[in-house]
Amino acid sequence: MNIDVTTTNNQLTSDIVLQVKDLKTHFDLEEGLLKAVEGVSFSLRQGKTLGIVGESGSGKSLSAQTIMRIVPPHAKLGGEVLLKRRRKGKDDKIVNVIGLPLNSPEMRDIRGGEIAMIFQEPMKAFSPIYTIGNQVSEAILLHSNVNKEEAKKIAIESLRKVGMSNPEQRFDEYPHQLSGGMRQRAMIAMALSCKPSILIADEPTTALDVTVQAQVLQLINELKDSLNTSVIFITHDLGVIAEIADEVAVMYLGEVVEYTDVDTLFHNPLHPYTKALLKSIPSTANRHEKLESIKGTVPTPINLPEGCRFYTRCKYAVDGVCNDNDIQLTSVNEKHDVRCVRWDEIEEEG
Ligand SMILES: Nc1ncnc2c1ncn2[C@@H]1O[C@H](COP(=O)(O)OP(=O)(O)OP(=O)(O)O)[C@@H](O)[C@H]1O
Ligand SMILES: [Mg+2]
Repeated sequence: MNIDVTTTNNQLTSDIVLQVKDLKTHFDLEEGLLKAVEGVSFSLRQGKTLGIVGESGSGKSLSAQTIMRIVPPHAKLGGEVLLKRRRKGKDDKIVNVIGLPLNSPEMRDIRGGEIAMIFQEPMKAFSPIYTIGNQVSEAILLHSNVNKEEAKKIAIESLRKVGMSNPEQRFDEYPHQLSGGMRQRAMIAMALSCKPSILIADEPTTALDVTVQAQVLQLINELKDSLNTSVIFITHDLGVIAEIADEVAVMYLGEVVEYTDVDTLFHNPLHPYTKALLKSIPSTANRHEKLESIKGTVPTPINLPEGCRFYTRCKYAVDGVCNDNDIQLTSVNEKHDVRCVRWDEIEEEG
């Protein structure tokens, strides 16, 4: 995959809006250095959806939170997050979000303005003591040049767009007065009301029942198409990935282990972890086969030994080959990267 798309003068190629390069989020704990995100790289294309998938603890949320700079202050960050900022009547500007002072006006402008985030639990985004309308309007006032009255109009329109019935009345309601699905919609409305160029959705449907889940996915897709927003969609559910993603990064223990387009991921997965993940989901195609679970559990990423991070759980692991040196993410072809030294031998082993 073409991760390294910056040209020499730090410009991003025309269709890339965000490029994450060698991102690191570490925590210095008493037990040792916890490398929660360790060298993550990917690019996000304009109007496309990048899915990030992986088991619990793989560093999906922390990667997103690092891009938004909403990690705890003691986290140590490394790498680059290059964001293309579009400016009216001027050339695009490339900003390294990791290099910005945390509370600088530019960072505040980006957070919620150019990059908006929706969370698994909407109560994280809303304060219980203000009305929904108040909070959506505040976000609009903060990021656009409008007065209070106009902000209210835009907020009500956003609530209507996400399928809220009677948005004028909902405007004056408090978060606890809405159902889970409605709160999720309100959060999406808030995120989209400032027309962000990038939307990060961190497991936005996990807490919802299946029908509401499908509606929310459809909503994100529709809004993406109408506003040409680029989406980073985080989930542990490969079924959701199949529905929503154009490209996919599979994460394991803080690293991207496979990175390719969605069709290739499902039809020609190369990393043993991706293969195992695919075998662990029920589907009509393999309903007569036994579902496999991945043996063992995800270790904590503290003081990990050299070598492949999946070594202890991989059925293809070879002592002296996979556990000697750290394994790099390598390009198999221009559309497919994998972090495994044995991927071509495994193909033959089946
Ligand atoms: N504030 C923190 N301090 C120390 N360690 C943290 C902190 N936040 C997360 N971690 C650790 O970082 C690792 C990655 O966490 P993260 O929340 O990104 O996982 P995730 O892939 O989003 O998992 P889930 O699917 O459960 O949401 C975990 O080992 C977690 O314990
Ligand atoms: Mg998470």
